[in-house]
This record gives sequence, structure tokens and C-alpha cells, in this order.
Amino acid sequence: MYAIGVVGDRYPSACIVNTLTQVTASPQTIALSLNQESYTNEMIKKHGIFSVSVLSEDTSGTVVGALGFNSGRETNKLKNVGHKVLREGVPVLRESICCWFLCRVTGSLETRTHTIFIAEVIAGSDEYKGTPMTYSYYHNTIKGRASENAPTFLIQNEDNYSLSEKYTCKICGYTYNNNNNKPFDQLEDDWACPVCRASKDAFVKN
Ligand SMILES: Cc1cc2nc3c(=O)[nH]c(=O)nc-3n(C[C@H](O)[C@H](O)[C@H](O)COP(=O)(O)O)c2cc1C
Repeated sequence: MYAIGVVGDRYPSACIVNTLTQVTASPQTIALSLNQESYTNEMIKKHGIFSVSVLSEDTSGTVVGALGFNSGRETNKLKNVGHKVLREGVPVLRESICCWFLCRVTGSLETRTHTIFIAEVIAGSDEYKGTPMTYSYYHNTIKGRASENAPTFLIQNEDNYSLSEKYTCKICGYTYNNNNNKPFDQLEDDWACPVCRASKDAFVKN
């Protein structure tokens, strides 16, 4: 899982992706799939440059919530997310990331809904620490899911959950399991979704 940082019209911005892959090791080249509607896509086309912050397993769910379920077109998504802005105007996250690198776009391909950007790595952090958060870890351990613009988004099969009492956040898909926790209806009124900070009202019983 990665945060893609871009130069923004008003503020530097970033979004969450899980579809980034190595293309070649020398020169260091990557491919990234980004929805055509996203602000991040628009800013990459405009400036030809972006950063990649490699999320670690320690990255808080609220960072994924802030960057993966809102658009930088409407809000300053990095307002409450620790970051620094590189000389090129591109932000990289500060907390709980394994490393970061800076990429310059060298090519692109349009599919029906997403752009596949090809880019070369032109700079990066000196150190590497922690364990990278895989999509599987996010999905199975944090119990989060991809937002609708993510290439991996799939409509959930409600029957998967019919045997036990669970509550799902309508905003980010986080599932609260009554069996392993305090019953949902006994949670405090100000309890918030651990992934996207939505209130209890945003949860529906499965
Ligand atoms: C776990 C996760 C994975 C995601 N992966 C991708 C991805 O690979 N490509 C993509 O275009 N959007 C992906 N998204 C969705 C974007 O992060 C989301 O649409 C974001 O709001 C776009 O913000 P922007 O308009 O500021 O660019 C993902 C979201 C989550 C939560």
C-alpha cells in the first residue's frame, strides 16, 4: 500500500493506492494505475511528477481513511497527516512509512477508467524501516477495504457475513465484529470508526 503525493493547485495532496508495481530495476521504473476521475491523476498529468510513500504496518488507519476516501479537489487532505514537502513541491508522509521515492512520468496508457502511468525513480529516502503494509494485511488484519475508485474494488457479497453479528462502516468498509468486542450498541456515543473516523451512525448491521 502506498500514498501517492502530488503538487496541488492549492495544497500539496496525496491519495492511497495499492496498484503500483516495478517494471524494471535498471533504470528503476514503476507502473501505477490511477482512476481518471481522481485529483491525483489530474495533478500527475499536469506536473509530470509524483512521490510514493511506502506505508508500513504501523501506518494508522486514519491516514488511509483521510487519503483514500476523500478527494484533494475538495479538501486539504494532508491537513492532519504528518508530511514534508520536497523541493519539487511534492509531499511525502513523515510517520510510519518504510521509505519514500520521487518519480518522473515517462509514459502513460489510458484504459476505460484508469490511467497507467509509467515513471522513473529520480530520488528517494536514505533509509528503509519497518514492514510494508500489503493490501492483504490492510484487508485481513485492519479489515479495511478499497474505495470505489480503486482498481481492486469489488462489490461485497453480503452472504459472507450472514452467520455472525457484524456492523460495517458505509464510508470505508471497516467491519466491527460483535463476537470479539464490546457489543456495538453498547459502544460510547462518541466512538468512531478506527479507519475513517466516521461516527456510529455510519455503520449498518450486516
Ligand atoms: C486500500 C485502498 C486502495 C486504493 N487503491 C487505489 C488505486 O490503486 N488506484 C486508484 O486510482 N485509487 C485507489 N484508491 C482510491 C483513492 O485513494 C481514492 O479514490 C481517493 O479518494 C482519490 O483521491 P484524489 O481525488 O485526491 O486523488 C484506493 C483506496 C483505498 C482505500
